[in-house]
Amino acid sequence: MPSEPALSLSGVNAFYGDSHILHDICLELPQGEILALLGRNGAGKTTCMNAIAGLLPRRSGRIAVGRQDISALSPEAICRAGVALVPQGRRMFRSLSVEENLTVARRAAPPAGQRPWTIAQIYDLFPRLQERRANLAGQLSGGEQQMLAIGRALMTAPRVLLMDEPTEGLAPQIVAEVGAIVRNLRAAGLSVILVEQHMAFALGLADQVVVINTGRVVERGAASALRADMSRLEEQLGIH
Ligand SMILES: Nc1ncnc2c1ncn2[C@@H]1O[C@H](COP(=O)(O)OP(=O)(O)O)[C@@H](O)[C@H]1O
Ligand SMILES: [Mg+2]
Repeated sequence: MPSEPALSLSGVNAFYGDSHILHDICLELPQGEILALLGRNGAGKTTCMNAIAGLLPRRSGRIAVGRQDISALSPEAICRAGVALVPQGRRMFRSLSVEENLTVARRAAPPAGQRPWTIAQIYDLFPRLQERRANLAGQLSGGEQQMLAIGRALMTAPRVLLMDEPTEGLAPQIVAEVGAIVRNLRAAGLSVILVEQHMAFALGLADQVVVINTGRVVERGAASALRADMSRLEEQLGIH
């Protein structure tokens, strides 16, 4: 029998005030895989990440990490259950140093069975952060800030990493570096949801693809199958 998904959403609805944004979202992230969540600007990708992370005031449906239902948990408890968000825009403490940012992100008690990352391991993954360890986060380049945002998420010892547009605003060479990092994280056993507007980049990395439009899933499948029929995806993403 196949192992249960690392993360699953069934019938998830989410709202901002009276605005109904997500409609009956269902998706499954298999263990150790990368799922690309694609969609046009405003499709609801960030809302979906925030719903998983427990950051929306009003949502319904079931969200589970492995067998654990996290639907009713606080953001802190969802983090303890092994879900970490690398937010869009790489929010971090700009007036703290790189190393201080990593230190404050560390959690005392990792989820059961999870080995916490050490700062030394983060520096192994991102040697550039070690060179910049004493610099303020606000002084880093866009690519370095993205590495720090990922490093901060890893310090919480996640099983599931939610990456919300990690390549936004980065130069092509740095985008390729981020791609290599995401592959490394999968090789380290993490399961990843990669939110992207860059279709080719996401399809090159992902195992599974889900496309949403106006808060609804409009396409899903194995990345290998979708790569064979890019025109269909381009149409859904408004790329002509
Ligand atoms: N804080 C908010 N309050 C009200 N509406 C919002 C808020 N954030 C996003 N929205 C709306 O929700 C929809 C989905 O936005 P978002 O999830 O940010 O899309 P994406 O990440 O796919 O670009 C958009 O129509 C957007 O205008
Ligand atoms: Mg977004």
